[in-house]
Amino acid sequence: MERKKLHIFLCIFLFFHHHHHAAARPSSSSSVSPIATIPFSAGFSPLFGDANIKRSPDDASVHLHLNQLTGSGFKSSDLYNHGFFSAKIKLPSDYTAGIVVAFYTTNGDLFVKNHDELDFEFLGNIRGKPWKFQTNMYGNGSTSRGREERYRLWFDPSKEFHRYSILWTTNKIIFYIDNVPIREIMRHESMGGDYPSKPMGLYATIWDASDWATSGGKYKTNYKYAPFVAEFTDFALHGCAVDPLEEVVNDRCNEKNDQLENANYARISPKQRTAMAKFRQRYMYYSYCYDSLRYPTPPPECVIDPVEKQRFKETGRLKFDGKQRRRHYKGGRSQDLGTNKRIYENQDDEEE
Ligand SMILES: *[C@@H]1O[C@H](CO)[C@@H](O)[C@H](O)[C@H]1NC(C)=O
Repeated sequence: MERKKLHIFLCIFLFFHHHHHAAARPSSSSSVSPIATIPFSAGFSPLFGDANIKRSPDDASVHLHLNQLTGSGFKSSDLYNHGFFSAKIKLPSDYTAGIVVAFYTTNGDLFVKNHDELDFEFLGNIRGKPWKFQTNMYGNGSTSRGREERYRLWFDPSKEFHRYSILWTTNKIIFYIDNVPIREIMRHESMGGDYPSKPMGLYATIWDASDWATSGGKYKTNYKYAPFVAEFTDFALHGCAVDPLEEVVNDRCNEKNDQLENANYARISPKQRTAMAKFRQRYMYYSYCYDSLRYPTPPPECVIDPVEKQRFKETGRLKFDGKQRRRHYKGGRSQDLGTNKRIYENQDDEEE
């Protein structure tokens, strides 16, 4: 099919697709070899809110609680010079407005001014409304250049465990949910330091983000429903563990990096690529690549899909006040240091 016809076909397809709610969940490839996992204590240590970190007796899983006193979090004991970071996660159920469960890689403790970061951030919701989530990327302190995408899910993440994974190699980043790649970023030369390049650790946290998480802060955390519990299990940390004070470029990691590049999860099969396209067309409701008020010229890694672009033109865009904010924890307290303050209120409400 030539391009134009294909485009028209896709528009018609999407139109029907969009109006037919029973349709299509992104199906995943079934022929994926099992992921090698480790017990909690083999790879992780507490980050904050120790009393709210509940480890299972067999060391296979951990529950993070949030109550009136504090949230909680853990982090990998090592930093990795590229890696595959993964866990099965079950999110709190019922009323979860104002709550954020974050699963992310960062080196913000070491590089305060020029940190790197890759995020899954799950944003709680009022009763009866589904969890939403976003992915994001920062490189070398590019906090003024947020690269958020926001999505709904094709399942209820509080009902059972699903695997969430971040692959980060020297030339690409892939976010996965189960076996479905939901976002792929190819490193583009002109991204420069915006592409994460320094060793990062894996972090998981639950915390009260009442002031922005749900409909731009309209719905706050209600502690009548506490404790809020996020469950984690089947951890995977594949990659080259490094001493961060070592030189960043080191030969020792080359072999590990080759293993990463050649692993199953570094190659997206045609079937997975179809599932990714389906997911993005159906469940993504914001992407910085289509936010022309924020980025008149899309950042260099953006691959503009004409069908996606068309959709976002109709949807409108978020309000954006450009303030800085980022989560950071010291002694069990959360302190805002600078993720972009995002007000998605309009979009989030439009969705349901
Ligand atoms: C990263 O940031 C540091 C400090 O701001 C700067 O000196 C360095 O050149 C940057 N690196 C890249 C690759 O942009």
